[in-house]
Amino acid sequence: MNELIVAGQYNIGHICTTHQCKSGLKDKTAMRWVSAHHERTDYTFGDLDAASNRFANLLDTLGVLPGDIFFTFLPKMPEQFFAFLGTLKHRTICGTLFSNFGEDALLDRLSDSKATGIITKKSFLRKIKRIWPQLPELRFVILVDIDEHSEENVYSYKQLMDAASAEWTTALTPPETPSVLHYTSGSTGKPKGALHAHRSVLLQNSTTRDVLAVNSNDIYWCTADQGWVTGTSYGIIGPWSLGVTQVHFGGVYDASVWMDLIQTERITVWYTAPTALRMLMRESPELYAPFDLSSLRHISSVGEPLNPEVMVWGEKILGKKIYDTWFQTETGGILIPNRPGTPIRHGSMGKPIDEIEAAILSDDGSQVGVNTHGNLCIKSGWSSMFITYINNQEKYDSRFRDGYYYTGDTAYRDDDGYFWFVGRSDDVINTSGHLVSPFEVESALLELDEIVESGVVGVPDDLLFEKVITYVALRDGITIAPELDLKIKLHISNRLSSIAAPHEVIAIEKIPKNKSGKIMRRVLKAWYLGLDAGDISTMED
Ligand code: PRX
Repeated sequence: MNELIVAGQYNIGHICTTHQCKSGLKDKTAMRWVSAHHERTDYTFGDLDAASNRFANLLDTLGVLPGDIFFTFLPKMPEQFFAFLGTLKHRTICGTLFSNFGEDALLDRLSDSKATGIITKKSFLRKIKRIWPQLPELRFVILVDIDEHSEENVYSYKQLMDAASAEWTTALTPPETPSVLHYTSGSTGKPKGALHAHRSVLLQNSTTRDVLAVNSNDIYWCTADQGWVTGTSYGIIGPWSLGVTQVHFGGVYDASVWMDLIQTERITVWYTAPTALRMLMRESPELYAPFDLSSLRHISSVGEPLNPEVMVWGEKILGKKIYDTWFQTETGGILIPNRPGTPIRHGSMGKPIDEIEAAILSDDGSQVGVNTHGNLCIKSGWSSMFITYINNQEKYDSRFRDGYYYTGDTAYRDDDGYFWFVGRSDDVINTSGHLVSPFEVESALLELDEIVESGVVGVPDDLLFEKVITYVALRDGITIAPELDLKIKLHISNRLSSIAAPHEVIAIEKIPKNKSGKIMRRVLKAWYLGLDAGDISTMED
C-alpha cells in the first residue's frame, strides 16, 4: 500500500494539504505565486489547507452536496487552487473550464454536467448570465473579485471565505469516489465529460516522482493551464501529493520573462508543451545567453509530438534534456514517457510505465507486429483510468474492447519496446496541444447566416503541430471578403475559444460529403495539401 493512503483515505484535497501538514510540511512553501506583474506571494501547505478547508465549508453553507458538480472558470490564480482542493475535500466533483471559453463551449459543458455552481471573475459573469436561463440546475456563481454579494445567487468569494471556518475534517473518501471532470473534444458530437476518481492520485503521485523525476527539494513549474488535464494532474495533484513546492505564474508567454522566472525562482524541473518550446526555439539564441539556468535539471513535455529538432535545440541552447511524455484526458496521468536516467530515442514517446500494459492492436483486436502501425491501446485497470463519460456510458463502453482501452491514437512499437506516435485515428485536431473538435466548429459556424455548410480540418503546422482550416459554402451572392473572414474567425473565438478559431477560411461551392451525408474531411485535407484525395467513389454527386 502506498504511504500516501492513510487509513483508506484517498481524498485528493486531503492528501495534497492536510496529509502534508500532518507529515511535517505545514510551514513549507507549497506555492510561490508570481503574478503577471511579478508580485510574489508564498503560500505554505498550512495556508493551502486552511483556504481549502474554508472553501469546503463554504460549499456546505451553500447547500452543495457530495457528488454534485462544481466548476472553476478562472485564469491561473491562487483562488482557483483553493477552490479546486476545497471542492474535492467536500467530495463534490470539480470540473475546470478554460478561461478563454466562449458561450457555446460553456453552455455545452455546464448543461451536460448539470453543474450546480461556478467560481469565476466579474468580467466573465456577463457570458454566464446570457446562458443561465438555459441552465436550470445552475444555482449560484461565486465571483473572486467582488467584496460583497451583489445580487441574488451571485456571491462574493471574499465574503463567503471570511465567514467560513478554517476547520474541516474530510470524510473518508473511498478510491472510486468521483473527483475531477474534464471535457474533451471528439470528432463527432458534443464534448464528452471524462470523469475521474480519487484513486487517480496514486498514478499522478508516482509519475510525478518517477517520470518527471521531481523530489521533495525541488522547485517545480508546470506551465499548463488548470483548464486542462495537465494543469490539474501535474499542476496540482501530482506535485502537492508529494509535498513539493510549485511556482505558478500568472503571466503569458514571453521568452525572457520565462527564463528570468527559472533563474530567479531557482526552478529545478519544468513541465511544458512542444508548442511553447518551439516558440522559444524561434527566439534568437543570444536571448538565452545572459540567464543562469543552472538550477534547472531537465524539462519534460506533453500534449503533442516533440520534434527531435526541439530536443537538439534544448541541449544546445539551454543545455537541458527535454523528455517527451504521452497521456490523455482519459488516462488521467502519464502512461508512456521518456524520463531522466533512461536512453531516449529522439522522436519516440518512450516506453510504458511499469504499472501499465500498452499494446498496438489492429481494428479487429489482434496484436500487430513490431514497427507496424495500429491502434494504441492500454490494458484496462490502471489507477488513474477515467470512470465514465458522464451521461454517455455507451461512448465510454465503446472505447473498451476485450479488456483494452482504445486511445484513438495510432502508433507503433519498435524492436526495443519504444512507442512512436503516428497520428489520431479520428478527425480531432491537435493544435498547440489542445484538442479541437471539427464538429463543434462546424456547428458554431452554422449560426452565421452567410454560411450554408462548412467542413473543418487540421493541417500540419510548423509551430502549432496542427492548425485549424475552415472550408465554407456561402449563400448565393455572398463572397469571402476580408470582413466576412474576420467575422468568422471572431465568431469561433467568441463562441468556442481562441484556440478553435480558424487560421484560414476558404470558400468553396460545396462541401464534399459521402452518400450518407458525412463530411469527407480527408478530401478537404488533401485539397488543402495539394495531395491526391484517394478513393472518392463514396462522394455524393
Ligand atoms: O493524440 C495524443 C496527443 O494528445 C491527445 C490527448 O489530448 P488531451 O486529452 O487533450 O490531453 C492532453 C494532455 C495530456 C493524445 O491522444 N498527445 C498527448 N501527448 C502526446 C500526444 N501526441 C504525441 N506525443 C505526445 N507526447
